This record gives sequence, C-alpha cells and structure tokens, in this order.
Amino acid sequence: MAKKFKTKITEMLDIEHPILCGGMQWLSRAEFVAEVCNAGALGFITAETFPTAEDLREELRKMKTLTDRPFGVNISMIPEMGNIPERTMKFVDVVCDEGVSVVETAGRSPAPLVPRLKEGGVKIIHKMTSVRHALSAQKAGVDAVALLGFGSGGHIGLENVASFISLPLAVRQLDIPVVAAGAVADGRGFLGALAMGAEGVLMGTRFLATDECPLGDEIKRVYVETPETNTTLIMSSILNPLRCVKNALTDDVQALEARGASLEQIIDAVRGGRKSTGYEGVEPKKALLPCGQSIGLIEGIKPVKQVIEDILAEAEALLGRLNAMAV
Ligand SMILES: Cc1cc2nc3c(=O)[nH]c(=O)nc-3n(C[C@H](O)[C@H](O)[C@H](O)COP(=O)(O)O)c2cc1C
Repeated sequence: MAKKFKTKITEMLDIEHPILCGGMQWLSRAEFVAEVCNAGALGFITAETFPTAEDLREELRKMKTLTDRPFGVNISMIPEMGNIPERTMKFVDVVCDEGVSVVETAGRSPAPLVPRLKEGGVKIIHKMTSVRHALSAQKAGVDAVALLGFGSGGHIGLENVASFISLPLAVRQLDIPVVAAGAVADGRGFLGALAMGAEGVLMGTRFLATDECPLGDEIKRVYVETPETNTTLIMSSILNPLRCVKNALTDDVQALEARGASLEQIIDAVRGGRKSTGYEGVEPKKALLPCGQSIGLIEGIKPVKQVIEDILAEAEALLGRLNAMAV
C-alpha cells in the first residue's frame, strides 16, 4: 500500500489523494468521473456538456448512484465582457440544490458566482493562468486556485509562463491553497508540484488514455503515441489559445487565422464544419484533440485507478530517493 499524501486540498475536499481530474467537455460525464472519485481522487462533471441545467441535474443524480465520494462540477465560461449568461447561473443553482461538494470555475472571473455558491455551501476552486488572476480570485472569496502553465492542456491563457515559474510565484503570494494544473502525468510531476508548494495537482491529458475515458480506441492511441513536441496552439488570434494535438484540423485553423479570418470562420474550422466539437464519429487526423505537453509522458492506456496508484507509488519511491540525497 503506497503512502498517502495529506494536504490542505485532501482536507478541504475530504478526499484520499490530492489529485483532481479537471473537467473535460463531452468526456467528463458521470461514469468516467465516478471512476476518478471512487479511486480516491476527485473529478468534475463538465456543466457545458449539457444543453440545459435540468440535464445537468439528471447527470448529478446519476452520479450519486455511482459513487458515495465527493465530486465536483466544472463551470467553464467564455472570456467576454458583460454579465454571466443566465444558463451559467442556472447551472450554479442546480449545483447548490444537488449538494455538490466543489466547483471548478474557469474562463473568466468567478466573482459573480461566489455569493450563490458560498450560500449553497459549495467550495470553489478557480482555474486560471496567471498569478495576477489568482490574486483576484482569492480576493473574490474562492477557496483554492488551480494554476495552469504554458505546457498545460486546454485553454492556457496569454501569459506563456511555465508552471516551474508560475507555481512557486503563486505559492509565495497567495494565502489560499494552490493546485498545480496541467503538465503533470506521473509521480515525478506530482511530487515535484508538491515540493514546489502545491497542495495538489489537477490533470486532464493523462486521464484521456484510460480504459474508462469515453473516447474511441483510435483516438486514445493518438494520445499515447503523440510526442510532447507535437502539440500546437490554435485560436491565439482570438486571444483564447487552446493546446491540441497538431494535425490537419489545427493546420487548417492556423492557416485561416494567419489570413485574418473572422471569429465565426475560425469557430467553424475548429468544429471541422460540424455542429459541435464532440468526439462521435470523428476521424482522429481531422479531429480537435485538446491535450497538454504531458502527452509525451503517457506510456499506455490503463484503468483510472491504476493511473492514480502508479503516481502515488512513483512519488513514494522518489521521496526515498530525495531523503537519501539530503545528507
Ligand atoms: C480534452 C480536454 C478537454 C478539456 N475541456 C475543458 C473544459 O471543458 N473546461 C475546462 O475548464 N477545462 C477543460 N480542459 C482542461 C482540463 O480541465 C485541465 O485544466 C487541463 O487538461 C490540465 O492540463 P493537462 O492536460 O496538461 O493535465 C480540457 C482539457 C482536455 C485535455
């Protein structure tokens, strides 16, 4: 039995291991997220996957039949000015009504959501890409922040700062717990993040190559075989860069962006001309496959539980190595 790592995040969320699986649109549904929670980590069901708040409610009720452990909901917002959309506020109401433990907010300031979530007794982890935004989120009253670095998966912001730099800076300046989001896929990254002051890690990419992730085998194989050098950023021209596997789709999107295409043209190309960016029936070479540079660390497809156990076992072994070094 590997050692357990007790941190402010395991205490705050009442979970066994300080490992979070960030919300991943279309994929983070009840069955997959329940596997993460049942393995002693915590996953987030992604609200944006569901057309309405009532559909999200149904998924949360299903989730409660699949796990007794705490679980979270990801509330992703589009970075734009103006009020938070009514749909998002309805998601927040459902999260509060259904007694969800924690939300992962992302995309823009969580401040307008904080009072309602606090009233509902829901913890808030805000995910962002800069120390400056982390400080604002702390001021707005969130319970913890998850800091994404340049090599992370998903939307990575405009700062282009590696986690090795932003993480220690955040830990120095914040009073609330900091979670290292992204660029972690094994025990080395996990222990390294804790050593730098993080109270936990949040991973996306590593969980894609698992038995339970609802992706086809062909796409999972792409996630196993792609090296860390073959990711690229799209949508930088609309100031919302997304890291993905480099393929024919990202080449097309980047070519359009270089020609100064409109927002609508870019979004249409990102969807590959389809209505949504879901994964059903897509051809891997032409699909939008978000990922982080940690893709290079994935050695194979495993069960979720094994991914977590291997990280903990590797971290424990490394701890022994470090202790032996400190003379
Ligand atoms: C396929 C995929 C889909 C994602 N979808 C979302 C999303 O809908 N909302 C969100 O906040 N983050 C999303 N993310 C980001 C993850 O939640 C997480 O922050 C990120 O993957 C961590 O970096 P890593 O991939 O390097 O581990 C997505 C990431 C991936 C790989």
